[in-house]
Amino acid sequence: MTIDDREFLMIPGPVSVDETVLEALARPVRAHYGDGWTQLYKHAVSGMRDVFKTDGEVHLVFGSGMAGVEICIASVLSRGDEVLVATNGLFGDRMAEVATANGLQVDVVRPGLAEAITAAHVRDALATHPEVRAVCVVHHETSVGVINDVEGICGAAREHGALTIVDGISAVGGVPFEMDAWGADLCVTVANKCIGGPIGVAPVAAGPRALEALSDGRPKAAGWYLNLATWRRYAELWSGWHPHPTTMPTNVVEAFDVALTGLLDEGVERRWTRLARARDRVREGLEEMGFGMLSPIATASPVTTAVYGLPGMDVADYMAWLLREHRIRIGGGLGELSGRIFRIGHMGRAAEPDAIDRYLRATADYVDGHGLGRARA
Ligand SMILES: Cc1ncc(COP(=O)(O)O)c(C=O)c1O
Repeated sequence: MTIDDREFLMIPGPVSVDETVLEALARPVRAHYGDGWTQLYKHAVSGMRDVFKTDGEVHLVFGSGMAGVEICIASVLSRGDEVLVATNGLFGDRMAEVATANGLQVDVVRPGLAEAITAAHVRDALATHPEVRAVCVVHHETSVGVINDVEGICGAAREHGALTIVDGISAVGGVPFEMDAWGADLCVTVANKCIGGPIGVAPVAAGPRALEALSDGRPKAAGWYLNLATWRRYAELWSGWHPHPTTMPTNVVEAFDVALTGLLDEGVERRWTRLARARDRVREGLEEMGFGMLSPIATASPVTTAVYGLPGMDVADYMAWLLREHRIRIGGGLGELSGRIFRIGHMGRAAEPDAIDRYLRATADYVDGHGLGRARA
């Protein structure tokens, strides 16, 4: 029995990965310095520039996504600086927590539940908070499966002279995003969601305005490790043999590079389209059974679908049944949506049509077996 036989992930990340990615993880451990390594690391950095669509700097921070969020926020802002966090869910709220923990003064704009954040929300908030230096926003708010208007928000922040810091953790590589064209200043993602790679690396991208803020001489909130200034210094100082400040998870980076190469071979835009098609397949299949979606298609994520349980349905029982009977793990609702919705991740191997059809067939069996069919919806 392989690990995948035990549990197939259809959660909003991490994702079940290809065999080639697993094989890279199982290779003998290599050193995190020296010629071959440096070449590999720089190959992944350069590939990520193509995925972020930026000519800016990229660093592969060794840590989870939140390490990347923290490095973005704390590296360019000083204690006491005012920031605006636009949030419509758990991960936006986390950005506010990170900003607060770093001694920033945090203003929050929060539209209704599952409502997408627009440029107008941010423009209105900035009008009442003229001192804001940076706007923080999640591109795909994974807790509700909603895409926020990051392009418009970057424009509103620029009009105000503020930086935009984007949590692209569950978006970059799977959802249309153009860092330079949209004018985003800092963006973080992870290997283990839309890119289809392993857990453990948070690629961070910084554009020219971010780099200017980073080195403007004001003492920043960041310490040493989660400080982009440190990562930049070593990328330059030790460029030829060890272009990062610390030991790196070498197998994870090797496996990440395999997944990233797969994405670039497929084509970033083609990946966006393929994942959106996966979303349509999931939505249409569930709608046919009578399920209602949390978001209209216009703001629905191409990589995670949030779905209301059918009337009379025990969502927790359905999720446990899927895992027990079909070894498929899906995500639940968070906070006030707990027990009311479930979330299907369709990235990585979970975006394959066969995987989606297997999931839909299993769900149809559950619905029929529990007398929850369309007529009752
Ligand atoms: C949008 C978003 N931000 C942040 C996080 C937190 O990432 P991590 O758990 O890797 O720190 C997640 C995790 O799912 C996420 O989806």
